[in-house]
Amino acid sequence: GVSANPLPKEHVETQVKEESSFSSKSEKAESTLSIVVVGASGELARKKIFPSLFALFYEDCLPKNFTIFGYARSTMTDEELRNMISRGLTCRIDKRKNCNEKMDQFLQRCFYHSGQYSSEDHFSKLDKKLKEKEGGRSSNRLFYLSIPPSIFVDAVRCARRRASSEQGWTRVIVEKPFGRDSKSSVELTRGLKQYLSEDQIFRIDHYLGEELIENLLVLRFSNLVFEPLWSRNYIRNVQVTFSEDIGIEGRGKYFDNYGIIRDIMQNHLLQILALFAMETPVSLDAEDIRNEKVKVLRSMRPLQLEDVVVGQYKGCTEGITSYPAYTDDPNVTKNSLTPTFAAATFFINNARWDGVPFLMIAGKGLHSKRAEVRVQFRHVPGNLYKQKFGTDLDKATNELVLRSQPDEAVYLKINNKVPGLGLRLDCSDLNLLYKSRYPREVPDAYERLLLDAVEGERRLFIRSDELDAAWALFTPLLKELEEKKVMPELYPYGSRGPEGVHYLAAKHNVRWG
Ligand code: NDP
Ligand code: BG6
Repeated sequence: GVSANPLPKEHVETQVKEESSFSSKSEKAESTLSIVVVGASGELARKKIFPSLFALFYEDCLPKNFTIFGYARSTMTDEELRNMISRGLTCRIDKRKNCNEKMDQFLQRCFYHSGQYSSEDHFSKLDKKLKEKEGGRSSNRLFYLSIPPSIFVDAVRCARRRASSEQGWTRVIVEKPFGRDSKSSVELTRGLKQYLSEDQIFRIDHYLGEELIENLLVLRFSNLVFEPLWSRNYIRNVQVTFSEDIGIEGRGKYFDNYGIIRDIMQNHLLQILALFAMETPVSLDAEDIRNEKVKVLRSMRPLQLEDVVVGQYKGCTEGITSYPAYTDDPNVTKNSLTPTFAAATFFINNARWDGVPFLMIAGKGLHSKRAEVRVQFRHVPGNLYKQKFGTDLDKATNELVLRSQPDEAVYLKINNKVPGLGLRLDCSDLNLLYKSRYPREVPDAYERLLLDAVEGERRLFIRSDELDAAWALFTPLLKELEEKKVMPELYPYGSRGPEGVHYLAAKHNVRWG
């Protein structure tokens, strides 16, 4: 590790040079990588991080020499960690014969070290073990902080001081939540930057690793037919929707402190909106893309109370099945006002989007699982077929839908003539369903993001100024909701959400649902 002497506050410990990792294949084969999953005993590590690391190993994306260490306070042997990991591994990539063999090879590279998150001494011991496995080669080190945010800075301090790489790079992946509001987010960033440079911090938002979200830029910028329409001239409104057909399922303690606006909107949905609405970047470089995202976020008007509807799911019974209310969770206070649903209308004050409502909707305990962007286009001026639509001309407007969940698809709603001698119109879809077009399974978002972090690709990670701009949009609203103790509208578990969202949509002339 590096010097254990305490450094003055605000001093960035930057002895480690940050460099792009594998510039050639041979370099990739030579270099050594140690990955430390901090919080390895937790759910995220078991369900997402270890399986994604295995998938990368299976796909031959990790360097030849790599070691994975799980770090947490729980006591566990290497073997127990391997058993835990192996229960979460599947041969999901394909059913090739050597999958079990590959799993064994992968598990042999996984080790466990038990320690406290704030003990530099325990991280020194980890460093010693890492060095043994690295066998004297210089090694890059990647720490994944899969722990509650209250201990991020402690863990970073210990990792940076006692277990960072001496010759290669050291990078840290940080999981959300990045604070609860502007102030706490700035404090967290300041805390992290005492020990790390911005280059070393990889703030993960797993929605940015989703295939469809990556494809958003490809669709926009590599097809002639979309970008010219991408403005207030042709687009009437945009809806960014996230809905889950489950409740908070055991995450009551976390969720009651955060709520749906912080859990889904401030990060996942706002990121999608920024990619959707930003101007064309100078290039695909991380900084060029992130610059454009910051610009569009800063052009948005912070949310006000009248822009928002909040809801909370209540229990209900259907036949012999009863579904719990949000407040039935043992870790949620009985009179909690935390929203499990929110709808909000954003406006972007720039030449491209002036006056176009962006309706953002996020909810748990709803009737379906869905994540999509829906673009509603304007009416066709002077439509020759107007009389064929009767009073429902509104339904005849084109829509472009980019759907990420439950299954990936891009489809465009168009008007089409029903074959036959008469003239009947039908609203139909030009449909690109991924599972029909691309037989290969789509990689999990965490796979792409872990690989990007290993390769030093920052395009899909959140920069600190982006984070500040994102919080600035939500913080005044969150404060007002809390201060005024705004009652969420109750909606039955498994329903389409609160009625209020229809009024909000109607107010902005948005066709919804
Ligand atoms: P957990 O609550 O399971 O925490 C991970 C590990 O951290 C635990 O196994 C425990 O390990 C340690 N830990 C938990 N609470 C404390 C505490 N109060 N003080 C010290 N150590 C603690 O979290 P998840 O695995 O669910 O998630 C990890 C991180 O990722 C969190 O920041 C979470 O917000 C974020 N996240 C999670 C998602 C999910 O779907 N689960 C989705 C997106 C983000 P031990 O006791 O062994 O030290
Ligand atoms: C997480 C949220 O970031 O995303 C969860 O904390 C949510 O509340 C999850 O369930 C949804 O992720 P996915 O990939 O299942 O859509």
